[in-house]
Amino acid sequence: MNEVRIGIIGIGNMGTAHAKNIYGGKISRLKLTALCDSSKTRLEQLRPEFPDIPLFEDHNELITSGLCDAVIISTPHYFHPTIAIDAFKAGLHVLSEKPVGVYTSIVREEIEAAKASGKVFGIMYNQRTTPIFAFARDFIASGRLGEPKRLVWNITNWYRTQSYYDSGSWRATYAGEGGGVLLNQCVHNIDLWQWIFGMPKSIRAFCAYGKYHNIEVEDDVTVYAEYENGATATFITSTGEAPGTNRLEISGDRAKLVLEGGRVRLWELKVPEREFCFNSEKGFGSPEYTYSELDIDPNGPGHNGILLDFTNAILDGTPLLSPGEEGINALTIINAIQLSDWTDQTVTLPIDAERHYELLKERIDRSSVRKVQDEVHDDGGAGSRWKVQW
Ligand SMILES: NC(=O)c1ccc[n+]([C@@H]2O[C@H](COP(=O)([O-])OP(=O)(O)OC[C@H]3O[C@@H](n4cnc5c(N)ncnc54)[C@H](O)[C@@H]3O)[C@@H](O)[C@H]2O)c1
Repeated sequence: MNEVRIGIIGIGNMGTAHAKNIYGGKISRLKLTALCDSSKTRLEQLRPEFPDIPLFEDHNELITSGLCDAVIISTPHYFHPTIAIDAFKAGLHVLSEKPVGVYTSIVREEIEAAKASGKVFGIMYNQRTTPIFAFARDFIASGRLGEPKRLVWNITNWYRTQSYYDSGSWRATYAGEGGGVLLNQCVHNIDLWQWIFGMPKSIRAFCAYGKYHNIEVEDDVTVYAEYENGATATFITSTGEAPGTNRLEISGDRAKLVLEGGRVRLWELKVPEREFCFNSEKGFGSPEYTYSELDIDPNGPGHNGILLDFTNAILDGTPLLSPGEEGINALTIINAIQLSDWTDQTVTLPIDAERHYELLKERIDRSSVRKVQDEVHDDGGAGSRWKVQW
């Protein structure tokens, strides 16, 4: 096999951007061979742009058509794990859009199905391709940060208007989406948080529901998390603040890093802080440090980078930058945040997945379907809107 034949399931904003990029030959050795959308109207709209690509209304028809070696799943979130399980059972490789799912038990089934199939399972965490975040991860792993003390991420520049929420009936409803800013926008940052700094042991969170929009899910969130070693993390997000901020500060015993405005600022202590604290004979003063500003690419190849990485993993057996089974980490943190706010308690990880699902189900049962005149699809100039916003 010297190329991967790929089908895309769910051709809305994101699926259309992937389809255009692949069809346009932007991903080496990846060939678009089928498209699927459950909306007939959408399929009719797609026909002129993809005249020679077979179109399917049902994902199982695409999966069993024999036209594809792999699929990208870019439907609304609830369908991600169930369609993936069907694809793995049919022997296809799967690249799931984020989030990997809405609750963890179904994602565990998906991970089992992936393992049993032996096929490649990737997730579209396109922000992992950003060199500036990879630098932060490597910096900590190399030991230069020293013992981690604190992560503070203020990520409030996910601004969305009411019109965005009104563009699809599934959006911002428990029945259609399962959550708000956490699952949709911030899953990228929550994945990076755990990718760079590791999984916390406990979470206390406060969510505001429809604070800035006419929606039933959260659009403003504050999280406090604790780690086994005593480190803490604070994570703040909103879709209702303008202009927003994207500022990630990470501190440890030996250094401090700030990622903001697409730049890295780095302070490295000459003596570890704990050592200085107990060895200094002066009551005031603080450890000496060196300061530098690093010029590291703040963008990276994004979605197309993940598509290429997925293709290479299938054809060459190279390890994935963003393995599908790691999708459960951010989902676990998100479910813990929801559970903490819903129960007004601190939640210890691993979460009580059954309790989370029970409480989610209550919200699904009360959920009101959004009334939308026409579903609006806007591929954002084939993905440029979804680059990291500094
Ligand atoms: N990685 C990123 O940067 C990024 C950016 C945007 C969206 N996304 C993800 O992509 C997914 C889709 O988001 P969107 O904004 O494109 O939504 P959208 O509403 O624009 O598109 C979803 C499409 O899926 C179709 N669909 C629904 N159920 C289906 C099913 N069972 N089978 C086949 N087709 C089905 C709909 O008809 C629609 O055309 C979401 O999970 C979202 O989180 C990821």
